[in-house]
Amino acid sequence: MVIKPKVRGFVCVTAHPTGCAAHVQEQADYVQRKGTIRNGPQKALVIGASTGYGLSSRITAAFGSGSATLGVFYERPSEEDRPATPGWYNSIAFTRAARTAGLYAKNLNGDAFSDEMKQQTLALIKRDLGQVDLVIYSLASPRRIHPRTGVVHKSALKPIGASYTNKTVDTDLGIVSDVTIEPATAEEIADTVAVMGGQDWEMWIDALLQAQVLAPGATTLAYSYIGPEHTWPIYKNGTIGRAKTDLERAALAIDARLRPSAGRAYVAINKALVTQASSAIPVVPLYISILYKVMKAKGLHEGCVEQMQRLFATQLYNGAPLQLDSEGRLRVDDWEMRADVQAEVARLWPLVTTENLSQLTDIEGYRTEFLKLFGFGLPGVNYHAGVEPHVPLDS
Ligand code: NAI
Repeated sequence: MVIKPKVRGFVCVTAHPTGCAAHVQEQADYVQRKGTIRNGPQKALVIGASTGYGLSSRITAAFGSGSATLGVFYERPSEEDRPATPGWYNSIAFTRAARTAGLYAKNLNGDAFSDEMKQQTLALIKRDLGQVDLVIYSLASPRRIHPRTGVVHKSALKPIGASYTNKTVDTDLGIVSDVTIEPATAEEIADTVAVMGGQDWEMWIDALLQAQVLAPGATTLAYSYIGPEHTWPIYKNGTIGRAKTDLERAALAIDARLRPSAGRAYVAINKALVTQASSAIPVVPLYISILYKVMKAKGLHEGCVEQMQRLFATQLYNGAPLQLDSEGRLRVDDWEMRADVQAEVARLWPLVTTENLSQLTDIEGYRTEFLKLFGFGLPGVNYHAGVEPHVPLDS
């Protein structure tokens, strides 16, 4: 099958297996070039391991410090005339590359919110690894079936209290327009917290602790975002921000539970980047397009793997006392939030129109990164050639 990108709004409904493999290899090569992360993780469980920050965390653990990795994710295999999701192909490529390097890599594909998936994970850790010393929690999901109540919670990306109007961009068509988003209802706020908040992370850690598969001194991390004030109504102060506040609550609760065994739990605040999750948030893609322009001009641009490699190598595992912010969080959004970067973003923001989008923003860079998420536009891949879309995942 010859596979071409088919973009529908903020998703691409096709993915290229060879391109996804090249994307994974690009990240593995980067981590290897940066050198060994001394005292890095040895046995890592990555929940949300197939794309975005979770995939880059997995690649960093494996190729930075030779860690065994167990990846949990929810991806769709290929169907008769339809390629699989990119996370499916990424995970196949990662597993191959890790095993070629002599590293343990196994996968569990299914709903991480369910008790069944947690039980399967515990059994696999017990059988193969004994214990894990790192647990990354990097889920981004539009919904969660609560394992106790059976209720289906759907997350909403909305402001709270008042409607919010700002500029946004249709990244596919390149049209800049105003968007108004009505405030969330109390139910939508609670649902978003149920999906993207910290309860499931706590359930994972409780299950791991109870099964005694967390190594003494284990680290667990979840990821969050803050960003600049003009995105606060839709992010930090919106429904997703409420969920992230709950994630920080959970970090403290988990940290207290891990302390007796010298473990630790943190929220890391990461940079805004093009991923399948962030492209769905109104206004954010325009912000990212301007941010990329500014950060590239200043030589400060990073992608997911650069962020995760820096987090592991210079903060988490560098042996020095951790540099936490006043709220006890790790920060790798420091370059994004630099005063000179944000001043330039704020200067450009009101000037951007459909007509000058290509000059004032890095919309091209955004599109290139977006297509790369689906395995398109990677150097060295022949996109005219037919490729086998039906590839089994060893899970
Ligand atoms: P992503 O969409 O690239 O990855 C989400 C992962 O979760 C995938 O591996 C997917 O398979 C998995 N997943 C989703 N639902 C699942 C389920 N029910 N069961 C098992 N696996 C499931 O997302 P991204 O952007 O990497 O986000 C990860 C975390 O990083 C999120 O907490 C997000 O808020 C945070 N973050 C993202 C930023 C960004 O700009 N993209 C910035 C800062 C933080």
